[in-house]
Amino acid sequence: MKNVLVLYWSHDGHTARVSRTICETIRAEGHNAEMMSVIEADREGVDLSRFDVLILGAAIRYGRFNKTFVQFVNKHAAEIDAKPNSFFNITLIARKPEKATLEGNVYARKFVQNSLWKPREVKCIAGKVDYPNWSWFDAVQIQLIMSMTKGPTDRTVVRDYTDWDDVRAYARHCLTLA
Ligand SMILES: Cc1cc2nc3c(=O)[nH]c(=O)nc-3n(C[C@H](O)[C@H](O)[C@H](O)COP(=O)(O)O)c2cc1C
Repeated sequence: MKNVLVLYWSHDGHTARVSRTICETIRAEGHNAEMMSVIEADREGVDLSRFDVLILGAAIRYGRFNKTFVQFVNKHAAEIDAKPNSFFNITLIARKPEKATLEGNVYARKFVQNSLWKPREVKCIAGKVDYPNWSWFDAVQIQLIMSMTKGPTDRTVVRDYTDWDDVRAYARHCLTLA
């Protein structure tokens, strides 16, 4: 039985939901999976050596991955590198297939370039538009970006671009890394 840890950063809960789906899929395959917020891992500590596979994921906001997430992976790069590992990232640009690859996704590419941790695998996952639950300021900013990139601009729209079957396939694939 493999022991998998999903360490994630999520602002509005979507990356947490993806992390939970990864864990549920791994458990359904008969393995053990735990999920932990990177904030908790950073403050309380986590023994990474207990796990056979490390999956780390974060959502993008205003072109950046969360500072705690970036600092955590840099600080623990050697420990993460010592295990089979994968990085998944949640972005809205990945709703377009050509931006759902490492080569096509500028955020994922920059992360890999700048991070001390060099993920063995990178998975780009499309996120969620959730205007009603965003602050007025955030909604206006995303509305602007969406109008430039031909996405939804109606502020009543909630649209989940995540391909959940693909997330489950990714989870099963991560099991094969160990
Ligand atoms: C304030 C804000 C800024 C965002 N900035 C970007 C961005 O720069 N590029 C992008 O592709 N998606 C961007 N997104 C989309 C989020 O990555 C997407 O909504 C994701 O599902 C959020 O995940 P979370 O719920 O785990 O925080 C942004 C969303 C918000 C609310």
